[in-house]
Amino acid sequence: MNKDLFSDAKIIQSWCKNAMPWTVAVREKQIESRKQITDQAIIDAIFSCSPGSVLDIGCGEGWLVRELAANNINAVGVDVVPTLIEEAKCAGGGDFRAMSYEEIASGKLGVSVDAIVCNFSLLGKESVEGVFRAAPSLLNRHGSFIVQTLHPVIACSDLPYRQGWREGSWTGFSTDFSDPPPWYFRTLESWIKLFVDNGFRLREMREPVHQKTQKPASVIFIGGLG
Ligand SMILES: C[S@@+](CC[C@H](N)C(=O)[O-])C[C@H]1O[C@@H](n2cnc3c(N)ncnc32)[C@H](O)[C@@H]1O
Repeated sequence: MNKDLFSDAKIIQSWCKNAMPWTVAVREKQIESRKQITDQAIIDAIFSCSPGSVLDIGCGEGWLVRELAANNINAVGVDVVPTLIEEAKCAGGGDFRAMSYEEIASGKLGVSVDAIVCNFSLLGKESVEGVFRAAPSLLNRHGSFIVQTLHPVIACSDLPYRQGWREGSWTGFSTDFSDPPPWYFRTLESWIKLFVDNGFRLREMREPVHQKTQKPASVIFIGGLG
């Protein structure tokens, strides 16, 4: 395995390159599965926890923070890519900070919220483990940790169903995208283990189904403290 191609650092490098096409794709609603299912699915999952405050980790250009603000929920958005944070700040709706998962893991964030949400933003290996380790210290008592990600059974393709680095792809995205980020594939079992090993109880798992394909468009985990 080529360590330079498959690493948390490479993920960041690639997102820095693709910040503008990503902003356009999200704002112009170019991603079909988001428009049809997963945007509403994550909003419903957050509302089901009735949080007064939310931390959006890996917030991208900030659409979810703006959506929550429109529903009177205070949210802080954090992302490592400065261009995405600038775009988020320009569009407004919340408190946006440029910070990496590694910095969050080292205790740099200093917030306390009712819910943490990660919407398709937990892509790496050590960086994601760091976010899970830090999560309990960022949550109020009875706080919720909500993660939406690709459904492992669907995203596995023909490769063996076991965790490990995978090559990225921008198939289905515009030609403005380049240098796809690698990602660390996790099985359902390994996602659940991340919650449990870091002091969370898995309160709920949702599998939003795509109307057209009748297959899960994603999986949503809702973990709780205590
Ligand atoms: C697929 S995008 C999702 C963005 C947003 N959550 C959304 O729903 O549109 C993944 C995001 O994770 C962020 N990210 C990946 N690794 C990161 C890291 N180590 N530290 C901070 N942000 C990271 C990227 O910059 C990118 O904005």
